[in-house]
Amino acid sequence: MLISSIVSSPLRVPNKLIILIRVLIHSVSIVYLSYVFYLAFSGQLLGDPVQYLLDFTGIGAINLLLLSLLVTPLALWLKFGQILRVRRSLGVYAAIYAIAHLTVFIAFELQFEWGLIVSEIVNRPYITVGFIALIVLIVLLITSLPAVKKRMGKSWFSLHQWVYLACALALIHYIWSIKSEELQPIVYFIIGFLVLIIRGKKLNIFKK
Ligand code: HEM
Repeated sequence: MLISSIVSSPLRVPNKLIILIRVLIHSVSIVYLSYVFYLAFSGQLLGDPVQYLLDFTGIGAINLLLLSLLVTPLALWLKFGQILRVRRSLGVYAAIYAIAHLTVFIAFELQFEWGLIVSEIVNRPYITVGFIALIVLIVLLITSLPAVKKRMGKSWFSLHQWVYLACALALIHYIWSIKSEELQPIVYFIIGFLVLIIRGKKLNIFKK
């Protein structure tokens, strides 16, 4: 098994450093998200605050998702098994940012008009794709609770392979949502799919 190959990790740091990295991930993710919402609600965001919040939460979710997928290759490459302990936090915040993204869309763009919400999900393909990605992320978020994970046994690992589907769908949603010619979504798309290919190949390149 991949994890067992790095248990006898030559690279070791004090446990306190890993705890510090996790605390940093928690604080930066929560503080940054709260701060941007505070700026929006206090009228300090220039331009269109709803669009800004949608972009910020959407990009935030994709960044965190890609980072969470990069942890295992990094751990194998550096033979740094301890770093695997930050993977869950990154995944959890990817889901939280994605939920915030949907909340902004429902609350501010659609003003809680539930009929409109359903019709957007059904009739606009890029929203449908984003919706499926979000559902998968929410399922992964709930099942990442230690008690649920324990109860699920081996099936937990099969279920959590769905993160690749969520990531692929999120990247498609992103590139599909762009109306003008922009380089950034194309760069994300290429990097994102390279990450998925590396993970999909069961990290063979790192096993040498
Ligand atoms: C029900 C689920 C979702 C809905 C309704 C939704 C809705 C939207 C909307 C309305 C936009 C803005 C399009 C525009 O600029 O006109 C957008 C952009 C975006 N969404 Fe989503 N989304 C959903 C799920 C997700 C998920 C799960 C992710 C990532 C994990 C994501 C990432 C993004 C990104 C990166 C953008 C582009 C931001 C930018 O232009 O800088 N979305 N989404």
